[in-house]
Amino acid sequence: MTARTDPPTLDVHDVTVRFAGLTALDGLSLTVAPGSVHALIGPNGAGKSTCFNVLSGLCRPATGTVRLGGTELTRLAPHRIAALGVARTFQNIVTTDGTVADNLLLGRHALSRAGFAASALRLPTAVREQREHRARCREIAELVGLDAHFDTPVAALSYGDRKRVEFARALCLEPRVLLLDEPVAGMNAAERARTAEVVRDVRAHLGLSVLLVEHDMGLVMRLADEVTVLDFGRRIAHGSPEDVQRDPEVLRAYLGTGTPEEGAA
Ligand SMILES: Nc1ncnc2c1ncn2[C@@H]1O[C@H](COP(=O)(O)OP(=O)(O)O)[C@@H](O)[C@H]1O
Ligand SMILES: [Mg+2]
Repeated sequence: MTARTDPPTLDVHDVTVRFAGLTALDGLSLTVAPGSVHALIGPNGAGKSTCFNVLSGLCRPATGTVRLGGTELTRLAPHRIAALGVARTFQNIVTTDGTVADNLLLGRHALSRAGFAASALRLPTAVREQREHRARCREIAELVGLDAHFDTPVAALSYGDRKRVEFARALCLEPRVLLLDEPVAGMNAAERARTAEVVRDVRAHLGLSVLLVEHDMGLVMRLADEVTVLDFGRRIAHGSPEDVQRDPEVLRAYLGTGTPEEGAA
């Protein structure tokens, strides 16, 4: 697998998102340094998924900008953002149709140069392109540990493997920045450890940056180079995992302040 040049910096500047009276993100700024794993953490409802929705074009911010290197992504359509190198996985979506190969090829659809007609007519260029896509999908399956299941129906896989299909599908877009929304949610300890390893391998081999939303603090502390902490849409802390873990604001947000029933999940 070829290591590429450093991915561009992902820069979120002063982004605000409002939903009918509720400020889901309140002037959020964060920078994902090239090739780093940056974790975005915070209690339920803090605005983490909303941030991902802004980054992937599913939600338009009221104010603020998102830049990938010199390119402004703010308010571009999702497919444009994906084509520019930002891919995401979804918090609650696990694929159940088709084989692993089918799902990964679907991930490469956006990269296809041969048009629909050329593919349908099985023109030589389209056939060659299809073969190349399949070979690349196999490499990516190997990287995430799904090679043994390449032609297996997704429905027959364990939950952890199915979550990794979603992960691999995002990688098939050849992203420079990968957005992972709770990649180990619902996994057992062994599956979590395996996924952490995969994230590390992928970053090393594909040379991409990762923005990670995750509730598993052990995983965040092991994987992240930098951590941004959100509470009620505002950034309340950021820095190294060690710094953030000791930050009194962060402890307050997670543990509650004298009103435990309002404490975070
Ligand atoms: N489409 C929406 N319409 C209205 N409110 C929303 C919408 N999406 C999210 N919210 C609200 O915005 C806040 C942030 O939500 P979210 O980004 O999902 O938080 P997190 O992912 O950190 O748990 C929550 O109060 C949530 O209820
Ligand atoms: Mg969420």
